[in-house]
Amino acid sequence: MTAKLIDGKALAGRIRTHIAQRVKERLNRGERQPGLAVVQVGNDPASAIYVSNKRKACAEVGILSLAHDLPADTSEQSLLALIDQLNEDPTVDGILVQLPLPRQIDPETVIERIRPDKDVDGFHPYNIGRLAVRMPTFRSCTPYGVMKLLAETGEKLLGKHAVVIGASNHVGRPMGLELLLAGCTMTVCHRFTQDLAKHVADADILVVAVGKPGLVKGDWIKPGAMVIDVGMNRLPDGSLCGDVDAAGAARRAAWLTPVPGGVGPMTVAMLLQNTLYAAEELH
Ligand code: GUN
Repeated sequence: MTAKLIDGKALAGRIRTHIAQRVKERLNRGERQPGLAVVQVGNDPASAIYVSNKRKACAEVGILSLAHDLPADTSEQSLLALIDQLNEDPTVDGILVQLPLPRQIDPETVIERIRPDKDVDGFHPYNIGRLAVRMPTFRSCTPYGVMKLLAETGEKLLGKHAVVIGASNHVGRPMGLELLLAGCTMTVCHRFTQDLAKHVADADILVVAVGKPGLVKGDWIKPGAMVIDVGMNRLPDGSLCGDVDAAGAARRAAWLTPVPGGVGPMTVAMLLQNTLYAAEELH
């Protein structure tokens, strides 16, 4: 079997075109431009690239992005004060604080300070809780994007065994909740999981979000599986790769996301979608 690739770049492009159209319609109705505050603390080079991509994507679809670039020695208190101000600002529909934050700032305290109806990242415990009780409002961008990629295959998800590798607050855990919401039988593996290969071999749907190149070997994969590789690792030669042995996986899986061009573009598209949703439905 040779896996079919799920083209995240193309799907994200179609979603962005649709969002741009919806924003244009809003403006034609005389309504306000949706606004996203993008906060970056310090100048971590990887974060700077992500933030710049998000700001460019906003501009392309007509969302106003409001830049808040703070120095690396910003105190937690002054970041919280900025969030309080953005929470009250009626031109701001969404607040995104780029992670990771410098060590003097506790990310969970910051995330909890963002008003849940402006939490376009979907990281606030309120929004994660809503997803857990099958009443999603803001859905975390990467897991939400993965669900759109799975839908793109046209395959039925109900009753399938979905295995998520990685139990982070922002990807693995909400990913498990999304798959459960879709009616999958769901397993989450993490650093203490015994016999990872056995769990992978049992997965009809496999989502890997760890950040270790080649963690999942091609011959572990169940023939015919749907494989979503969230990993984005830079190798010493400068090239990018995921967490799954892509060549091996392509020989066994039915569906596979490429890296780059799979999950990455979908995360940004879902951020734009959440911001439009905030402007249209919540504010
Ligand atoms: N850092 C890496 N990915 C993300 C993301 O999706 N949102 C935020 N806020 N920070 C990140």
